[in-house]
Amino acid sequence: RCTSNLKYSLCWKSSKTQKICWFCNNAKVAVLGASGGIGQPLSLLLKNSPLVGELSLFDIAHTPGVAADLSHIETRAHVTGYMGPDQLNAALKGCDVVVIPAGVPRKPGMTRDDLFNTNATIVATLADAVARNCPEAMICIIANPVNSTIPITSEVMKKYGVYNPNRVFGVTTLDIVRANAFVAELKGLDPARVNVPVIGGHAGKTIIPLISQATPKVEFPADQLSALTARIQDAGTEVVKAKAGAGSATLSMAYAGARFTFSVLDAMNGKEGVVECAYVRSEETECKYFSTPLLLGKHGIEKNLGLGKLSAFEENLVADAIGELKGSIKKGEDFVANMK
Ligand SMILES: NC(=O)c1ccc[n+]([C@@H]2O[C@H](COP(=O)([O-])OP(=O)(O)OC[C@H]3O[C@@H](n4cnc5c(N)ncnc54)[C@H](O)[C@@H]3O)[C@@H](O)[C@H]2O)c1
Ligand SMILES: *[C@@H]1O[C@H](CO)[C@@H](O)[C@H](O)[C@H]1NC(C)=O
Ligand SMILES: *[C@@H]1O[C@H](CO)[C@@H](O)[C@H](O)[C@H]1NC(C)=O
Repeated sequence: RCTSNLKYSLCWKSSKTQKICWFCNNAKVAVLGASGGIGQPLSLLLKNSPLVGELSLFDIAHTPGVAADLSHIETRAHVTGYMGPDQLNAALKGCDVVVIPAGVPRKPGMTRDDLFNTNATIVATLADAVARNCPEAMICIIANPVNSTIPITSEVMKKYGVYNPNRVFGVTTLDIVRANAFVAELKGLDPARVNVPVIGGHAGKTIIPLISQATPKVEFPADQLSALTARIQDAGTEVVKAKAGAGSATLSMAYAGARFTFSVLDAMNGKEGVVECAYVRSEETECKYFSTPLLLGKHGIEKNLGLGKLSAFEENLVADAIGELKGSIKKGEDFVANMK
């Protein structure tokens, strides 16, 4: 029987080769920015999952409505809505996983720096509350710019002496999801069976799909390979253009955010062999933060699986990305250093 203090799995060997696990699936998951374009469908997917016991929804607006609406769904997860800064601590108490799709969209007159500063401040404030209320939670950051919001979250956690690099993830899953979908489309494969690792950063040229490592193995002529790579790197713009002013990717991002969260929860529950790419603290290149495939476990990253064998084309992309990424990382670190 699952009790609240027995959150994770009990496993035993049933034979030499088979292991049986009994999952308790009582995780408490918080979504910060739950009323947004990504937050709402992401919360719906989490509510629909047997892995979630408690779903804690936080935003500065509309969370009572979103929570009431989701609470009528006939699945086990207990949903609570928290609204405004006064309720942030309560939203985070006892959370195992915190997913952050919060942000403020560009308003007329905002400069690039204003845009950076608003989201950066939001993420820093939310990370501060995570550090104080659930320092051991897995933190999954969707809020852009991911290349800087992960360094920001890490620096805030360090200030409280609770930084664990194995538990802070920049969610880049949408890049992998898109790569899988596009490769499957070009080759007439079942997308559910395709897996393309995507490494590097999470903006433009720093997004590096490793088509040479795709499973099943696929080959493209050079011109098609560079067009496919460019499409994956610029797929966000495809959605922004098609939505014609009504925002950016929200539904596919919600799917990707849910996929990543479920992988983290599966691994926490003791499932073996769970691998996801994410933008994390890294020793794999000269960049302090870099995305590569990660083996996940009960305590977050169990092993960084590294870049693997790259083609010459991919090696060039990595070399270009590193210089650019370093600047974004420093920007995030400087932001926290200069915060009051
Ligand atoms: N990682 C990715 O692949 C990816 C893809 C698409 C979008 N994004 C990013 O995800 C974020 C959210 O995008 P969206 O389209 O859902 O935006 P949105 O504007 O629709 O939603 C953002 C939500 O955050 C809330 N919010 C604002 N300040 C907050 C605070 N201090 N605390 C809690 N919530 C707060 C807003 O009220 C709103 O409900 C953006 O930063 C966006 O750039 C990331
Ligand atoms: C900040 O978040 C909003 C969504 O709320 C997004 O539209 C915007 O692009 C983000 N800013 C940056 C600099 O990525
Ligand atoms: C970091 O992300 C922002 C916003 O997504 C982008 O404008 C900037 O070019 C990125 N930097 C790098 C090095 O990718």
